[in-house]
Amino acid sequence: MQTRVSTAPTPGSATDDRRIKARIAGVGSALPARIMSNDDLAEFVDTSDEWIFSRTGIKQRHIAQDGECSSDLAERAARAALDNAGMTVDDIDLIVVATATPDNTFPATAVSVQHRLGMTHGAAFDVAAVCSGFVYALTVTNAMIGQGMAKRALVIGAETFSRILDWEDRTTCVLFGDGAGAVVLDSSVGVGEGQAGIIATSLRSDGSHKDKLFVDGGPSSTQTVGHLRMRGQDVFRFAISATVDVVEDVLAKGGITADDLDWFVPHQANKRIIDASAKKLGIAPEKVILTVQDHGNTSAASIPLALASPSFTARVRPGDLVLIEALGGGFTWGAALIRW
Ligand code: ACO
Repeated sequence: MQTRVSTAPTPGSATDDRRIKARIAGVGSALPARIMSNDDLAEFVDTSDEWIFSRTGIKQRHIAQDGECSSDLAERAARAALDNAGMTVDDIDLIVVATATPDNTFPATAVSVQHRLGMTHGAAFDVAAVCSGFVYALTVTNAMIGQGMAKRALVIGAETFSRILDWEDRTTCVLFGDGAGAVVLDSSVGVGEGQAGIIATSLRSDGSHKDKLFVDGGPSSTQTVGHLRMRGQDVFRFAISATVDVVEDVLAKGGITADDLDWFVPHQANKRIIDASAKKLGIAPEKVILTVQDHGNTSAASIPLALASPSFTARVRPGDLVLIEALGGGFTWGAALIRW
């Protein structure tokens, strides 16, 4: 009996460059026109710019007008991403929207976006993983493209968190904002080292933490939309410690170390969480993309908003290694390693 030794990668594995890969072909974003500064907030909430900025790094957030829905922002971000990719909606066969603030309980916000874009072909659905929703949506879409189930997709994070905030609770209402970000994922068959594409993804959740960050309403429980509730210090501690496992997982799958990264684009919840996470992971401060000062925490929209921000687009170069990472209610968390 002969023993066959092969150095070829397992077909379809993370190291197999012949598999179909999804690469980011365009980015776009949309923010409501109305800006609310910390000083604006302090006019009707017992807080101050000094308290908010020193504890979170937030200076301002965008707030949707009455009637401006998550799907409005998602559509604008999607159109901007399509323009950036040099594509039209005819090129797209899948839309995935990550949101915890859908326009309606159903249909999915993704379907509304599909309709607004004038698209009647393909498929559209929502993903609910709150602040890590974009990482979840990207992971699912990447897997679908890898399986040949879709060729080109819009992956959108869109939120109107202002609608679910208790504006009398200063411990939460100062933290969040509204907005949307989108990426176009295109499929390409790998031909070798250094090719653009999503290299690895890793997802986790642990529902035993579901009472630490949640909304106290819903169609099946209270028949109301409810308000966001949070045990801030528990979230803070978990956000710094827990996400290390998914980051180490994607770095290992990619065969690299944190030193090899060019950019770290974390969920933008709180500058102190971001600084502490980067330090723990050994990522230099100059590689960290920060938008939390301008947007607040926009939940699933925060990473694609950051990917479309000038602080990233003006500096990233083709071939750069980009790490995204997020933690959200549930808790859910995840990371993705991307070659730009
Ligand atoms: N303005 C002024 N004072 C405030 C405010 C406010 N907006 N909010 C709370 N305080 C007061 C409290 O009442 C308390 O007063 P007391 O000492 O008289 O009782 C004091 O400030 C300290 O409150 P703490 O809750 O201990 O403040 P802490 O330093 O922990 O900061 C914060 C609170 C910013 C929420 C922090 O816990 C945090 O960042 N947690 C992470 C939460 C987060 O980012 N969530 C986002 C969603 S999850 C995600 O996206 C990863």
